[in-house]
Amino acid sequence: MLTGKTIILGVSGSIAAYKSAEIIRRLKDLNANVRVIMTVNAAKFIGEITLQTLSQNPVYINMFHDSGSLEDSLPHITISDTADLFLVAPATANIIGKVASGIADDLLSTTLLSTGNKPILMAPAMNERMYKSHIYKHNEKKLQIAGVRFINPEYGKLACEEEGEGRLASVDSIIQHVVDVLIEGDLFDTYDLKGKRVLVTAGGTREYIDPVRFIGNPATGKMGFALAHTAQVRGANVTLISGKTLLAPPESVKYISVETADQMGKAVLDNFKHADILVMAAAVGDFKPKRTEKNKIKRKGMLKIDLEPTDDILEKLGKIKNSRITVGFAAETNNLIKNARTKLKKKNLDLIVVNDVTQPDAGFESETNIVKIIDKSNNVEELPKRTKEEVAHRIWDRIVDLINKNKGA
Ligand SMILES: Cc1cc2nc3c(=O)[nH]c(=O)nc-3n(C[C@H](O)[C@H](O)[C@H](O)COP(=O)(O)O)c2cc1C
Repeated sequence: MLTGKTIILGVSGSIAAYKSAEIIRRLKDLNANVRVIMTVNAAKFIGEITLQTLSQNPVYINMFHDSGSLEDSLPHITISDTADLFLVAPATANIIGKVASGIADDLLSTTLLSTGNKPILMAPAMNERMYKSHIYKHNEKKLQIAGVRFINPEYGKLACEEEGEGRLASVDSIIQHVVDVLIEGDLFDTYDLKGKRVLVTAGGTREYIDPVRFIGNPATGKMGFALAHTAQVRGANVTLISGKTLLAPPESVKYISVETADQMGKAVLDNFKHADILVMAAAVGDFKPKRTEKNKIKRKGMLKIDLEPTDDILEKLGKIKNSRITVGFAAETNNLIKNARTKLKKKNLDLIVVNDVTQPDAGFESETNIVKIIDKSNNVEELPKRTKEEVAHRIWDRIVDLINKNKGA
């Protein structure tokens, strides 16, 4: 399947380095030419001879040699020249951080930088605390924006005897990613949203009853933030309008923080005129108290609060959208498809993403989502459980298809 393809496998100093032997064997079974670069630290975890024998190629570790051959004098250039794909598995926090900062202080990091715009896949493996640290996440995001694809680690037993997220993805999954990129061409064109002005909303709104109480919902902003980040990775110019959230605003996006549905509506209207695409992932309150008390309401017996509907932002925009692409979200508990189709029509949307918020691992507060994407022709695409980033990429894929279709029309 991979005949004629050369894969450079970078192995760094993780306890999971022994799994690189199996990765090589599986790539060789698919007839790939595998060239291995190890870090000096990786060589403490697994023997060079093992990887050399399995790959049937010399294993490279050092930057500087004195044999006099061209390959030895400029190894980073000669090796990267031959690459169809660069896979780093396992990738330590260290190599990810170094490449994210443009550091090239050993053969692996230097060759990664010399790879230019060829596909790079990284399969991180590390302790959960490292994996979830802001420093690591920042580096990962930086590389994603530069076009590097990540094969997410799994949850499971880690070397430190702790359980958590950070265990190297399964060899099956790593091989599948390589095949997807090399054979199926499943590497989104990193800049397929280049030049597009994208407006994304995230989080939930708060409708104040008095200065210290509000009607809200459990939205965390994760889906909208994932949409903003992935749009940025794909080259878009992003404005993110979010309700209150604990998430740190992504870098280099225009970020507008709001609280109420009215504020959200105003911010969206103000920015819509400059946008090509709007994706409304925010959970905007449908009702607000008719009046907000100036002072904190004291506890005394029953309390009745009159609610009135908030403005329907999407419906308003549906009437003035012209050629813009608009995508809405529907968080439903019953009659999913029927309710979503009604919403799509009423708000003149191009796509609606619907999730059953009663399902585990979907909707509010979850790291993952299970959604269906419905288009104007009533086609329903069902996505299995995916991380919110993966769902976001699929939504952008669908939007890019619409852009291309409109261009061809
Ligand atoms: C036993 C042991 C296991 C380690 N496992 C990992 C790991 O899985 N992931 C990681 O990022 N670092 C791990 N480290 C730390 C790295 O080896 C260390 O950061 C090193 O500098 C990485 O160098 P390299 O990226 O150049 O290979 C481990 C260290 C030890 C001593």
